[in-house]
Amino acid sequence: MKALVLSGGKGTRLRPLTYSGAKQLVPLANKPVLFYVLEDIVAAGITDIGLVVGDTADQIQEAVGSGERFGARVTYIRQDSPAGLAHAVKIAREYLGPDRFVMYLGDNFIEAGIREYVQDFAASTACASILLHDVPNPQQFGVAELREGRVVHLEEKPAQPRSRLALVGIYLFDPTIHTAVESIRPSGRGELEITDAISWLVDRGHDVQARVVEGWWIDTGKMEDMLDANRLVLERLGPANEGSVSDDSVLQGTVIIRAGATVTHSRLRGPLIIGENATIEESYIGPFSAIGSGCTIRGSEIEHSIIMENTVIEHVPHRIEDSLIGRDVEIRRGGVQPRTYRLMLGDHSRLEVL
Ligand code: DAU
Repeated sequence: MKALVLSGGKGTRLRPLTYSGAKQLVPLANKPVLFYVLEDIVAAGITDIGLVVGDTADQIQEAVGSGERFGARVTYIRQDSPAGLAHAVKIAREYLGPDRFVMYLGDNFIEAGIREYVQDFAASTACASILLHDVPNPQQFGVAELREGRVVHLEEKPAQPRSRLALVGIYLFDPTIHTAVESIRPSGRGELEITDAISWLVDRGHDVQARVVEGWWIDTGKMEDMLDANRLVLERLGPANEGSVSDDSVLQGTVIIRAGATVTHSRLRGPLIIGENATIEESYIGPFSAIGSGCTIRGSEIEHSIIMENTVIEHVPHRIEDSLIGRDVEIRRGGVQPRTYRLMLGDHSRLEVL
């Protein structure tokens, strides 16, 4: 079996971070979402991975390389515009050849991993298998209706969903999907929808199986999702201290400190991670925080937040919470009168002040 991982798209819901970076490279516990996806695929025994890339191809390629360090062979497939998930299958046809494959959206992943689903699909004669998850907001996803365990209806982002079962962004296909993809037309939002291609299979009586996924499912499209996902990933890591911690610092719970990081006169309450060569001084870092490598946090308090590489936060008088802060950002208390806010924020930034 092969894998097709989708890492194109625009990431509009994660602006401004996605102006300068691929959304699949936003880190969870200091590791890009996409890396969890690649690791999950390799853990399921699949090492041939086609990676669909768009405008952010260079960054993705720089981060993933040949795939060797994941134990995989990665082939890059260029998608000129984000014309839909089924369009990605279309342009990958030559790469996929006659093989069965798992298609995995580069910003999704599930707690239990895909191994069991891949094994079951490989042993079955079904032409597709979809994964579903019970969600409170099905309008925001593809939605499936099941009758006696069989898929009878699928719809992309329906205004009136027929169930709460959202399509997880992980699909298993045999080559029949290529015929389906060639047969459908673009949707109202102008994309070739994979949901329509699977509907095409269902309507023609092909065997499309569905599995309801237990445990968590992460779709990291929005900031709130990223913070939730960061929490879930941090919760399953064990403690590790490769850095240096002063005697007057206090570590509680699961704290991970990477090599070269220094913590002085601070309180760290896990689960949290401090990246390589970060400096934490006279600060409080609270649960569910991921401080990227090279960051400096001085005289400040941070909780339930993702702070990306090389950001500096100094002497901020109130706790920073529920925040997603990009790379090379500077946030510091201004020392001179008048006491005003001085801001330089990119388009689509969000700032809540006291
Ligand atoms: O996350 C699950 C949902 O993913 C499903 O429930 C929906 O049925 C499915 O259509 C999809 O919906 P989204 O609107 O969330 O998909 P999005 O446009 O965010 O794209 C998902 C990933 O695929 C993202 O990493 C970008 C990548 N992508 C997307 C498009 C449209 C591509 O690589 N190429 C594309 O053309």
